[in-house]
Parts: sequence; C-alpha cells; structure tokens
Amino acid sequence: MCGIVGYIGNNAVAEELINGLKNLEYRGYDSAGVALNDNKNIDIFKAKGKLCNLCDVLNLHQKDLQNSTGGIGHIRWATHGSPTVENAHPHCSADGKLVLVHNGIIENYKELREELVKEGFAFVSQTDTETAVHLIDRTYRQTHSLEEAVLNAVKRLKGAFAFCIMHKDEPDKIIAVRKNAPLIVGLGDNENFIASDIPAVIGKVKKIIYLDDAEMAIVSKNKVEIKNFNGQLLDKKAELISFSAETISKRGYKHFMLKEICEQPDIIRNILAQRMSDVNNQIQLPQVNWNEILKKSKVEIIACGTSLHAAMVAKYFMEDLLGIPVHVEAASEYIYRKTVTDENTLTIGISQSGETADTITAVKQAQDKNAHILILTNRPDSSIVRYADSLIPLEAGIEVSVAATKSYTAQLISLYLLTLAWAERKESLTVRLQKLKQELLEIPAKLEEILSNENCIKKCSELFQKYKSFIYIARGINLPTAMEGALKLKEISYINASGYAAGELKHGPIALLDENMPVLAVLIPGTPTYDKILSNCEEAKARQAHLIAVTSSHDEHLNTIFDEIIQIPFSDEVFSPVLANVPLQLLAYHIADNLGREVDQPRNLAKSVTVE
Ligand code: AGP
Repeated sequence: MCGIVGYIGNNAVAEELINGLKNLEYRGYDSAGVALNDNKNIDIFKAKGKLCNLCDVLNLHQKDLQNSTGGIGHIRWATHGSPTVENAHPHCSADGKLVLVHNGIIENYKELREELVKEGFAFVSQTDTETAVHLIDRTYRQTHSLEEAVLNAVKRLKGAFAFCIMHKDEPDKIIAVRKNAPLIVGLGDNENFIASDIPAVIGKVKKIIYLDDAEMAIVSKNKVEIKNFNGQLLDKKAELISFSAETISKRGYKHFMLKEICEQPDIIRNILAQRMSDVNNQIQLPQVNWNEILKKSKVEIIACGTSLHAAMVAKYFMEDLLGIPVHVEAASEYIYRKTVTDENTLTIGISQSGETADTITAVKQAQDKNAHILILTNRPDSSIVRYADSLIPLEAGIEVSVAATKSYTAQLISLYLLTLAWAERKESLTVRLQKLKQELLEIPAKLEEILSNENCIKKCSELFQKYKSFIYIARGINLPTAMEGALKLKEISYINASGYAAGELKHGPIALLDENMPVLAVLIPGTPTYDKILSNCEEAKARQAHLIAVTSSHDEHLNTIFDEIIQIPFSDEVFSPVLANVPLQLLAYHIADNLGREVDQPRNLAKSVTVE
C-alpha cells in the first residue's frame, strides 16, 4: 500500500506534506514525491528510496517553496512499475497543469491506457496511476472544471483508488476521492489536510471526516464539501481523533517495534478490563451477534501472514473448547479454491490493518455464500469492516512498525475471549472455563516478567546473530508460534528462518542440520508432546545443531541439550503461545538491530498489502 497526503493553508506546504508522509512511512518507502501549487505553477519533486531522499531534494529548492498555497504528496510501495523516479508519484498531465497521487490499484488500467494512447496521450511511466491523470485531463480540457472532470473519470475506473488531485488553474482547492482505499480529511483552522490514515494528521487537527466509498471531497483552506460520485452534496459528520500524539512517537525507544513489544502487557490489561471486568460475569463482546453465531456448526478463519498464525493458534483451542470444526486458510489460497462455505459457517476474517486485499476479497466471497462474517481488526475504520456482520476491535492502538507484534498478541487474546464467551453461552460456566478466565487475567503480569528478562534474550541474540539460517520447531498449539517466530526473524533481519512441526524434522528438514543451522524449540512441560519434542531436540543435537529452548520447564536435563534456555512463566498450554511468542519477538528484534537493519521499515515490505 502507499500513503497519500494533501495540505491547503497558510503554513509551509512542503513542510506539512513531509510531516504527513513521515507518519505514513510504514505504508511503503520505495519512493516519495510532492507537488506544490503557488498559484502560478505546480512544481513536482520526487526521489527514489526513503523519504529522507525527497527531503534532500526539497532542501536544494528551499527558496522556490515559500509561496506554495497547497500541495499533495505520496509515499510508495511499488505495485506497477519498479521504484524509479519516473514511476514515483505525483503523476501529471502532458501540460503539467494537472497532478495526482494515488493509493490502490486501477484494475482496468491497461484498456484505458490503450484507449488514451490511441487518442495521442503520451505515457512517461509504467504505472496504473498515470492512466487516471490522463483520463481526468481529457475531460478537463473540455469542461475546465476539475470537479466535473474527476466525477467523469472515476466512473470509468475499476479497482481501488484514493486520490488527491490538483490543477494549476484551480489553485484554491484539492480534490480527494475514495473508492476501496482509505482516505480522511483533517479539519483545521483556516487550513485543511487530506491523508490515507490518521497518523498523518495526529497533532495537527482534532477533527476528521472519514470519506466512505464513492465519495469525493472538494477541500479548500476554509471549506470542505463532500459529494457522492453523482455530484450530490452529502452531510458528513466530523469525528474527534481518539489517538494522541504519543501514538506516533517512539517515547524514548530506539524503534517503534521495541516500543510496541513493551506495550503489550498494558494493552492486554486494557482489553481484559473492557471485555472481562469480572470473571463471574459473561465476557462482553458488544458488537458480536451471538444469536447468529450460536447457530453455526462450523468455523473458517481466513487471514495472511502473522494474522494467519493467530488463526492457526485459535483452531487448537476453539476445537478443544467448542467441539466445532475450525478450518484455517491463507486468504490468498481461499480465494481460488472451491470452498464449502455456506449459511452454517462462521467466517472469521483477521486483519490488523483491515486493508489487506487478499483477506478482504476472501471475506467478500464468504459473505456471498451467506456465511456470518466476524471481523477482528485493529482498525475499525478500515475497508474490511464494511463486510462485518459481527466485529471485535483489537484495541491495540495504532501499530506503526511494519512487523506485527502487539496486534498479534491482541489477536490471540481476542480469539481466546471469543472462544470463552462462546463456550459460556453454549453451556453453563464450567470449572475449566472459570479457571481459564482467571488465568487469562494473569497474562499481563507474565508478559511483564518475560520483558524483564530482555537482557538474557539480548545476550542470546548476540550469540546467534552470525547464523545465516534458523529452524524453529514446536508441536501442537505452538506450531504457529514457531512459524510466527521464524517470520519475525526473516522479515526484519533478512536471515532465512523456517517454522516446522517438530515431528516433521526427521522427514526431510533434518538434512539441513549441522553446526551452522541453529534450532530453536518451543516446549511446554506437562503437555502430551513435551517428551516427544525433547527427543527431536536431541536428534538435532546429535547433528551438531546449536539449540535454543523457549520453555517454562526448569528441568536440569535441558542444560545437557540446549546451548541457550529462555525461560517463560508457566501457564495452561492454551495460553502458552502468547507467552512463548514474546521472547521470539525480542530475539528477532535484537538480532535485526545488531545487524543494523531498518527494523521498523524492512526492505520490500509495507504495513499492509493492499494488492492481491
Ligand atoms: C507481519 O509482521 C507482517 N507485517 C505481515 O505478515 C502481516 O501480518 C500480513 O501482511 C497481514 O496483515 P494484516 O493483519 O494487516 O491483514
């Protein structure tokens, strides 16, 4: 996904745009650009790579920037066309008078491009976005009304698009358009902002307007009009921003990722306080339609990446506590499979950002098959919520670092709460349910205990940062923990890591083992598989692999097998994924930081993948 911003007002426009883009860098950082309108000209500045490169370009033109009255900006995660300056946004019309920035994908851009090329329009980039510029310009040349030209063009576009558009001859306005990609308008005092997401305007405005799909905003310094794609004026209410400036500050941490790892105990404490104030009362999930859910005979959970790992953990305890079949699948696979989803299905879509294209498409398909759609997301204002029949907001606070950490833990807690709430509505509160609810309340303190052990994990990271590959193993409910730990390591340190079922090691991966392939094992005592996984670790030891254990066991024998042992507090196996995952987050973080990686903005990644 990309980030777009617009500013119109009396402040230094370039500065306001760069500030907004800085707070949207988690959305992509392949290239960046701004267009500035000073009532005489529109000047475009672009740079490949990080936003700081664009700042360097702007610093060379300081004197030219003083008279701008409005501008638009863009930060890119490349979809169509490599991250070159030519493909960077803003894109402009042939006469340089009309400029546009875009987040999303124009699915029918090829046919439109052919149509425009036949009419003599020359393209200078490989992007889908440039099609929109020439489409709007074609009408503008006849109507000389930017609003009319935009309304005409959007009717031809298919796919997802959030635009900010400016024209040299209409310097008093910026037009913003939303369809299947988020966009907000920040309402200031004699100035107004447009942005893909709230972090861009935190600390700048107190009130925002969320554009809904097929809506356009005509934004000037002291007026904002919202219209639908038929040009009818809409009466949209402004909402107060609930996030503070602290949300987008590192608060003294070196990286957002470390801040967000350390926030987890308080976030879980807040979630539990909201949802389960008293273990003797039913768990409160006010936006869940229990009448519908209690009728369902099967569950499918669809997600991507880290959210998919949360879904995999949920399968174990949902089937255990509810006795209902739970199918878990990557959204990108679900979309292209002939599924058996029907009116008896509860389809759970998990997405931190709520903008992941694969998950949204999959959820839409399930809804078309009459499933009941329950969405778990950290962004109740996101696109996926449009398809929710029931909703569980994660309440984890904005997650800035590209690597998902606190949102994963919040997903697990929310899935535990959903399952326990379902179980206590299906039957009276059994002793086991009561015990599990009580133990859930103890998790924040146990997370704090793990975080207090960070130096041990940091030492472990120094010992193991030299390796080029890792294997993570676990069994049962912690198999997804191994997979998530491996994903965290590879996505921020660029070290290859794979998560395997420990029982599968001997069926192939064991061929990889030698003194250069460390094995990290998650093992929980008192479980049916503890002895088995210990044997797997001994098999790995026999092949000279160096071993790390993440365990709540204090068995002395472990010292004869493992080179490093990372202790976690004891818990019921059901909750062990929450506890075992945090050391893996910290291990990945410290290895990546030791290697000097861009921890919060790893190469090639973006916080949400809004393309299939
Ligand atoms: C996790 O660290 C990654 N950033 C990525 O796998 C992410 O979990 C995935 O893209 C799904 O994102 P979502 O939860 O916003 O849908």
